[in-house]
Amino acid sequence: MKSTYILINVLMFIFTLSNYLTVHSQDVPKEPLAKLWNIENDEIPKYLSIEKNLSMVDGILKLLLDDDNFGGTFIDVIQNMIFINTLNFTKAEQIKNRTEIRQYTNLLNFTRAPNSTAILNSRFQDITNFAKSYIPKYCMGYINSKINNIVIASCNETRNENSNAAFINVIRMYYPIFTYYNCFEPSNNEIPSLKSYDTEDQILAGDGIRDYYGGICSVGFWARLQPNKNFIATAGHCDSSRSYYLLPWNSLPTASIGPMQDYYLEPIDFGLIYIENKDVQPVPSVRNADSAQYKELFIKDIIPVSSNGAHLCLSGVESHVKCGYVVALNGFTSSGTNFRGKNFRENIFVVNLHSLSGDSGGPIFSYKNLMQVSLNGILTGGLDNFNDNINGIIGVITISSILNVVKNLEVVTAP
Ligand SMILES: *[C@@H]1O[C@H](CO)[C@@H](O)[C@H](O)[C@H]1NC(C)=O
Ligand SMILES: *[C@@H]1O[C@H](CO)[C@@H](O)[C@H](O)[C@H]1NC(C)=O
Ligand SMILES: *[C@@H]1O[C@H](CO)[C@@H](O)[C@H](O)[C@H]1NC(C)=O
Ligand SMILES: *[C@@H]1O[C@H](CO)[C@@H](O)[C@H](O)[C@H]1NC(C)=O
Ligand SMILES: *[C@@H]1O[C@H](CO)[C@@H](O)[C@H](O)[C@H]1NC(C)=O
Ligand SMILES: *[C@@H]1O[C@H](CO)[C@@H](O)[C@H](O)[C@H]1NC(C)=O
Repeated sequence: MKSTYILINVLMFIFTLSNYLTVHSQDVPKEPLAKLWNIENDEIPKYLSIEKNLSMVDGILKLLLDDDNFGGTFIDVIQNMIFINTLNFTKAEQIKNRTEIRQYTNLLNFTRAPNSTAILNSRFQDITNFAKSYIPKYCMGYINSKINNIVIASCNETRNENSNAAFINVIRMYYPIFTYYNCFEPSNNEIPSLKSYDTEDQILAGDGIRDYYGGICSVGFWARLQPNKNFIATAGHCDSSRSYYLLPWNSLPTASIGPMQDYYLEPIDFGLIYIENKDVQPVPSVRNADSAQYKELFIKDIIPVSSNGAHLCLSGVESHVKCGYVVALNGFTSSGTNFRGKNFRENIFVVNLHSLSGDSGGPIFSYKNLMQVSLNGILTGGLDNFNDNINGIIGVITISSILNVVKNLEVVTAP
């Protein structure tokens, strides 16, 4: 009798313990990459190494693919495969037989596709030139390798404006795919719940900044101009004449930072806020405060992604951290005519990711491992459906285009 009682107790204990463990593991939120790839947190390192491997092979492959027999590549981390849009399978067989590639053939999937890189590039160049002269409102253009075609994305609400209608009309002959987002929310009465004042005066990439008039953007990264002047880099369209305040996540504004010293709206969307207040300390890390374990991601370098299908993530005051897939490493955005003039930007990365308006200027980065990231650029803006939280694309101002324009700028990285 006694032993049964003990056994039951032991069983109860095991039951409680296992219950406790399951509840506990469910409590740990999924890291942004685990959400993107629909995997568990502990599988992230494995998939990061698969992605690294695929990107490396994709790099070798791109040197061998000519523009007439092939039509672009993209990687798929979950399938552990590189897809190659192929017009000529005789040529594909020859490439598989190359010594540099032979050991990787199990990673390659040559699929039949109608449009060659040569055709897509030349048509995209023509479309880009038309976009430059018409400056359609809220428009992005890029070559999507996954669908082997040119995509022109814009807002449903502005498709009938003169500049948009004229642009669409003139590029019809290139047969791009037109995509429309429902961009404008009727009115936003949502009042976010805010904590009381936060006294922390550290600034991380992804924190919010608020200007004197109430405009909200996100911190891109810590930048330095010689001799030893420190700045917060953000988007140029966040410009404002007066000082900015630090706006931590889910919080009210805290410390004053300083004014924007310099900004550009073309060819890049980029601004530098001078850190006048010596009490605020910039940190070369990305904010990831919703994570249980990795609340700060160290910015180790500025190595850009090189493959379509690779991950890129955003940190911003509205969205916090979110990840998506690279859809193009070369696209354009066109603002239309607004109070800042007409802005056209080329050489942007396009990522499949739904962002929110206060995220502008926030860092775009890729994970090296769970604690360290490579900074790729900052968010200029995106096109999203206001009525879902999934569909959207963003434009990324790349670090290389920033460094091309702003001479002597240094991106401060973690030691
Ligand atoms: C990379 O791919 C090669 C070829 O399939 C394979 O031998 C190697 O184990 C892969 N490495 C990783 C980290 O997946
Ligand atoms: C396909 O590629 C092979 C090998 O390079 C070449 O000889 C052939 O002319 C190509 N076919 C076409 C239709 O271009
Ligand atoms: C592959 O290369 C070998 C020599 O490197 C050659 O003998 C063979 O015919 C090639 N096969 C194809 C399909 O090109
Ligand atoms: C290549 O991809 C297609 C489409 O996803 C798939 O049906 C096919 O099985 C793949 N081939 C190989 C060899 O994996
Ligand atoms: C586009 O916007 C109009 C209003 O401007 C709306 O009536 C229509 O339903 C929208 N189209 C789509 C596909 O959502
Ligand atoms: C790509 O191929 C499809 C199918 O042949 C064609 O309809 C489309 O016009 C092509 N796209 C471009 C940009 O040439």
